[in-house]
Parts: sequence; C-alpha cells; structure tokens
Amino acid sequence: MRGLNNKTAIVTGAGSGIGKAIALRLATEGIRVGIFDIRGDAAAETAVAIQAAGGIAVPITCDITDYAAVVASVAAFETAVGGGTDILVNNAGWDTPMPFLKTDEAFWKKVVSINYFGPLHMTHAVGQGMSVRKSGRIINIASDAGRVGSSGEVVYSGCKGATIAFGKALAREVARSNITVNTICPGPTDTPAMDAFVGSGEQGQKIRDAMVRGVPLGRIGQPDDYPGLVAFLASDDAAFMTGQTISVSGGLSMHG
Ligand SMILES: NC(=O)c1ccc[n+]([C@@H]2O[C@H](COP(=O)([O-])OP(=O)(O)OC[C@H]3O[C@@H](n4cnc5c(N)ncnc54)[C@H](O)[C@@H]3O)[C@@H](O)[C@H]2O)c1
Repeated sequence: MRGLNNKTAIVTGAGSGIGKAIALRLATEGIRVGIFDIRGDAAAETAVAIQAAGGIAVPITCDITDYAAVVASVAAFETAVGGGTDILVNNAGWDTPMPFLKTDEAFWKKVVSINYFGPLHMTHAVGQGMSVRKSGRIINIASDAGRVGSSGEVVYSGCKGATIAFGKALAREVARSNITVNTICPGPTDTPAMDAFVGSGEQGQKIRDAMVRGVPLGRIGQPDDYPGLVAFLASDDAAFMTGQTISVSGGLSMHG
C-alpha cells in the first residue's frame, strides 16, 4: 500500500492472535515493526517469523499497564530503529467471561488496566514524538462488544466503548498535528483469547455454533481478517480519514 515502505510501527499484543497477524502483514509492507508483548517468548516468536520472511522486527517485552515500562520500551524501540514511531496499533487486550455481579474490584482493575489504561499509556508515550514530528497514525483495536455490548464481558465492553470514545476525542485534538486516530472493532475471532472465552469440549462448540449463527457472513473472524484494514488506515490512502470506528465482524453489527 502507498506510503508504508520503511515506516516504523509498534503493535501491542503482537505475540498472539490478531496482533501477530497485523505485525506480520505490516512487515510485508516494508514497515519495521516493534513487537510489544508482556510475554517475551511470544514476542520473540513473532519477530523470528517476520525476520525469516525477510522483514525487520524488534521484539520488546512490555507490560502496557505499567506507564514507566511503556515509556522505556518505546524509547528502546526508537533507539533500535533509529527514529520515531510512525504508526501505533493498540491491540493488546484481555478478558475472562464472568457475570458482572460475580466479579470483584480486583478483576475490574485488571480488565481496565489492560484494556483501557494500556492504550492510554501507549498513546501518551508514542504521541509525544508524533506531535513534534507532525505526523502519525494511531489505530485502536476495540471490539463490537464496545458498540453493542456482550454479556459476560461487561467491564471489558465498557473499556472497549471507552476506547472508541477516546479515539474520537483524541482524533479531534491531534488532527492539526497531522495525526489520525481510527478504531477497528472485530467481532468474535478465532484466537487463543477466544479459546479461553468459550472453553473446550461440547459446551465450547455450542457457544461457537451460536456465535456463527449470529454472523450474516456465516463464520467467526480469523486473525487475517484485520491486517488489511490496519495497513490501509496506516497508508497514504487514508490520509483524510480520522475519528472513525469500523466494525469488521462479518455483518454481526451494521452501523450507518
Ligand atoms: N478474539 C476475539 O474474539 C476478539 C473480538 C473482538 C476484539 N478483540 C480484541 O482484539 C485484540 C487482540 O485479541 P486476540 O484475540 O488476538 O487476543 P490474544 O489473547 O490472542 O492476544 C493478546 C496478546 O496480548 C498480550 N497481552 C496481554 N496483556 C498484556 C499486557 N498487559 N501488556 C502487553 N501485552 C499484553 C498477550 O500476551 C497476547 O499475546 C484485543 O484487544 C481484543 O480485545 C478480540
């Protein structure tokens, strides 16, 4: 895609699932990719896969809930690539299904720390340089849960809704610095997070079948359903697009 070759990008949670697919795709566009993940071994695996395919990747073990660690990790990435971060993909997320009335404060804090504070930390750390350079692309991976709600994922849905609103407000604030902010909302997607969510065995299969029935295109998402849109939003072709929320969920939710 236009304008991506030789750019730099950080993808959080790129050790698994959707983030890994995004990182692999951005690398094929000639982007030097920072693979940020709390699991260093998983980050290293993604980086090796990119390098084996001829791309450039820098694996960084980073807990996005820790602001000081985020600032140090962004600095380490920018030193490694010898320049600022052009593209930030806030992808890392986490949840475990539980009825809200059965959850407690420790659980809420964990969900909010990863799914909302994480993107705030990353955006604040990376956005400073983007604003000085008057150039940047921020792409948030939220969820259709943040648009239509998802039972069993109440606090997570709240965080994803917050991420959508955060993206819109930030898009207004940083537009004059030539930074765009857009948000992608995946629907249910076949990743390790989904396996943990639905569980295994007959019950897990029943939940998967019910999910598929709700999707007009007749399947749940695959990690490779999202990287093309991320690449587009990071490219020159999307230069006039900001503050948008786009569902990629097989028609599960449709928004005018
Ligand atoms: N899978 C789905 O059905 C689905 C649906 C809608 C939205 N999403 C969103 O897509 C994104 C990716 O989800 P996925 O399904 O690929 O998940 P995943 O569990 O496969 O991968 C998430 C990655 O994030 C990393 N991570 C978790 N906490 C972290 C932290 N504190 N700091 C840094 N890294 C951390 C994990 O180690 C993991 O590698 C998430 O934001 C998720 O909410 C997923």
